[in-house]
Amino acid sequence: MNANLLQTVNAGGWNSRLALSRKPKLISKPKPFWIFAMSPSQPTRRALLGALATGAIAPFLSNPGEGIVASDRTDSPLRLGIVTDPQYADKPTRGSRRYSEAAVKLEAAIAGINDARVDLLVHLGDAIDGEKNAAANLKRIFDIFSTSAAPVIHLVGNHCLDGGKPAFDRTSGLVAYHGAMRFHGWRFLLLDGNAISIRGHLPGSPAHTEATANINNGAVSWGGGLGQLQRDWFAQQLIDAKSCGEPVVVLCHFPIDGTSSPQNHLLWDHAEVAEILSNQHNVKAWFCGHNHQGGYGRVAGVHHVTFQAICDAPSDGNAWAIAELNSNQIRIAGHGTIPSRDLKF
Ligand SMILES: [Fe+2]
Repeated sequence: MNANLLQTVNAGGWNSRLALSRKPKLISKPKPFWIFAMSPSQPTRRALLGALATGAIAPFLSNPGEGIVASDRTDSPLRLGIVTDPQYADKPTRGSRRYSEAAVKLEAAIAGINDARVDLLVHLGDAIDGEKNAAANLKRIFDIFSTSAAPVIHLVGNHCLDGGKPAFDRTSGLVAYHGAMRFHGWRFLLLDGNAISIRGHLPGSPAHTEATANINNGAVSWGGGLGQLQRDWFAQQLIDAKSCGEPVVVLCHFPIDGTSSPQNHLLWDHAEVAEILSNQHNVKAWFCGHNHQGGYGRVAGVHHVTFQAICDAPSDGNAWAIAELNSNQIRIAGHGTIPSRDLKF
């Protein structure tokens, strides 16, 4: 384990990483009261509200993260809007990938999700596709996300970093790529599947070096993994959530379930992550994108849902969903290519 990274965890540093939006938007519906249980550096409520005002919730420490956000809401079921893999780019359709249509479809999806009055909007990653015009494409997509009436949680996909990490960070306003959030009795764990990858890491860095070794051993160059440090954090979060009696939903761009996604789409360290999950019984679902065809599997009691990509939706269709989280099930109402499912516990 890298000593410098451990020091980063122990040193905190959230405030120094807080990125407020250059173009804050007004949140159009009442927000729950958020508090932090984060040490040693606790951001102020004002700073948190500033982060919320960006429309992109990233109230976590820099990678690796260790933050917890809490809400005092306990009334009605929590409702999430879910979209994934717009992969927007102004380039010709390739196969089922209708890159240039994705922005308009995302606008329509968010309009539908706004009508559904959700508590949070989850974007499971891959906002754009390709290096060409990446910054402009990212801006267009994040401008569209700013029309969400609910705060937006962004997971970082491999293609999000096609234009480089600085461009993505500038446009997204994200301050961290993984973290934990306690909301309405649930714990959401956001995972960074690019933590070990050749994307977003400089050649010669430990993450790039480990990724290069994996690729030389046959891993796909467009994949990635959590890495040991994040896996340790993930395992500790699951233990803590269980001790708190909190059900967990994991959010990650990448799948780990080989029964519903091709092997080359899985996190590189999917076996290690699955082993962590097998030791816990409070994880209800793993929500991801990346495999554009989508899929579903259940492993060790965990519902693995890969949501269909907006990018691949038919020209006259779309792909978005509303997930309602209840004590005995998650009810997914799919729109367009995303099927509806009841995930019972
Ligand atoms: Fe992806």
